[in-house]
Amino acid sequence: MKVLIVGSGGREHAIAWKVAQSPKVTKIYCAPGNAGISELAECVPIAAMEFDKLAAFAKEKEIDLTVIGMDDPLVGGIVDVFEAQGLRVFGPRKNAAILEGSKAFSKNLMKKYHIPTASYETFTSPEEAIAYLETAKMPIVLKADGLALGKGVLICQNLEEAKAGVKELMLDKKFGSAGNEIVIEEFMTGREVSVLSFVDGNTVKIMSSAQDHKRAKDGDQGLNTGGMGNFSPSPFYTEQVDAFCKEHIYQATVDAMKAEGRPFKGVIFFGLMLTEDGPKVLEYNARFGDPEAQVVLPRLQNDIIDVFEACIDGTLEEMELRFDNDRATVCVILASDGYPLHYEKGFVIEGLENFKGKDDYYVFHSGTKFDEQGRVVTNGGRVLGVTANGATLKEAREKAYEATEWIHFDNKYMRSDIAASVMNLE
Ligand code: AMP
Ligand code: GLY
Repeated sequence: MKVLIVGSGGREHAIAWKVAQSPKVTKIYCAPGNAGISELAECVPIAAMEFDKLAAFAKEKEIDLTVIGMDDPLVGGIVDVFEAQGLRVFGPRKNAAILEGSKAFSKNLMKKYHIPTASYETFTSPEEAIAYLETAKMPIVLKADGLALGKGVLICQNLEEAKAGVKELMLDKKFGSAGNEIVIEEFMTGREVSVLSFVDGNTVKIMSSAQDHKRAKDGDQGLNTGGMGNFSPSPFYTEQVDAFCKEHIYQATVDAMKAEGRPFKGVIFFGLMLTEDGPKVLEYNARFGDPEAQVVLPRLQNDIIDVFEACIDGTLEEMELRFDNDRATVCVILASDGYPLHYEKGFVIEGLENFKGKDDYYVFHSGTKFDEQGRVVTNGGRVLGVTANGATLKEAREKAYEATEWIHFDNKYMRSDIAASVMNLE
C-alpha cells in the first residue's frame, strides 16, 4: 500500500513514523515533509495548499491512502478535492472541518446541542463588541473566528485591554479575515486537557489524554505558541471526567455534526477545561494536535492504517483502540530562541544520531531541512520534539530532558518545566 501524508511538522513526522510500522505499507510519500520525515518517506516539494497538484501526484503515483495532518488544507477543502477525483483520503470534508475553521460555528453548535462550553456572544461589528464589553465581567476572552495559528485568542484582564483587543482583531486585522467575526466568551479557570479522538461519522473512539504547554516561557509566562511540549496521559483526566465527557461531549459533538448534515470523519481534538462546574469545551480542532500526536501515537498499539480505514469506511464501532497504559510519554520542544515572534533559521543541528537504536527515545522534526551541503539545519520556530517513554511520567520526563542535551544548535531554546506540575502527583 502506498500512503501520502500532507504536512511538514512534528505531527506529520509522528504520523509517518506510525504509518511506517504498518506491515501493509510499502511506500510513504510526504508533501512537503522535512529532513526528519525524509528518513521514512520520500518528500515531494508540493505545498499543503496546492490541492490540484497534490491530487494529480496521488493519481500519478497510484496512492492508496492520503492522510491530511494540517488544519489549513482541511479547512480549505482538500478532502473534497481528493474525493471528487475518486481518491481515498483520511480527514474531514470542508463542511465538517468548519468545526475548527470557525469558532462562531463551533460555539453556536455547542449552544444548540447543549454541549458544555463557556458562555459567549459573537460579533461582526466592532462597535457592538465594545458596547457589550462595557457591561461584561472581566477577565474576558476574545477569539478571532477563523484560523490564526493558535494565536487568535486574547485573554483580557480589563476593559482597556479588551477594547484594544477588538481593535487588533477587527480593525487592524492582525489575523486578516479571521477577525471579520469575533467570539467574546466567559473566562474559565481550571486544568486544561487535550483529548484526541478518531471519528467515522457516527462512532467516536478516544485516544489517551494529553496536556499541552502553550505559553513560550516557564511558569506559563510569555506568548501563546503552537505548543512547547506536553505529556500523556494527564493524571487529571480521571475516570469521572472521562465518564462525564463521554456522556455530554464526545458523542454529542459527533451526533450534532451528523444532525447538521456535516458528518465528521477524521480526528476531533477536544480542548477541554476542567472547571469547578465540570469539564467544558475550550475549542475543537479537526486534526491531530502538534505536539499531542508526538506523545499519543508512540503509545497507540493498533496498526494506524486499520484505524484510518475504519474511519473512512464507517466501521470504527467494531474496532478496539489499544494504548500502552503502562507507559507515559513526555515531549519537550526544542525551539529557536525568539519563537513565536522573531527567530533565525538555518543553524546546523548536531547530535541527531544519538537517538538511533535507542528504544523509548524519539526525535520528531518540527522545522528542519537539508542545506546545500546535506546538513540538517533549523527551518522554523519549533525545531524538534524530543520525546521519551517511561514507566511513569517522572521517568519519561527525566529521559526526555536527558535527551534534550544530546542535541545542539545555535539559539536552542526550551521550557524547563514541561510536565513539572504533575511530578508531585505520582
Ligand atoms: P483555543 O485556541 O481556543 O484553545 O485557546 C488558546 C488558549 O487560550 C487555551 O488553551 C486556553 O489556555 C486559553 N483560553 C481559551 N479560551 C478560554 C476561556 N474561555 N477561558 C480561559 N482560557 C481560555
Ligand atoms: N498543540 C495544540 C494544537 O495542535 O492545536
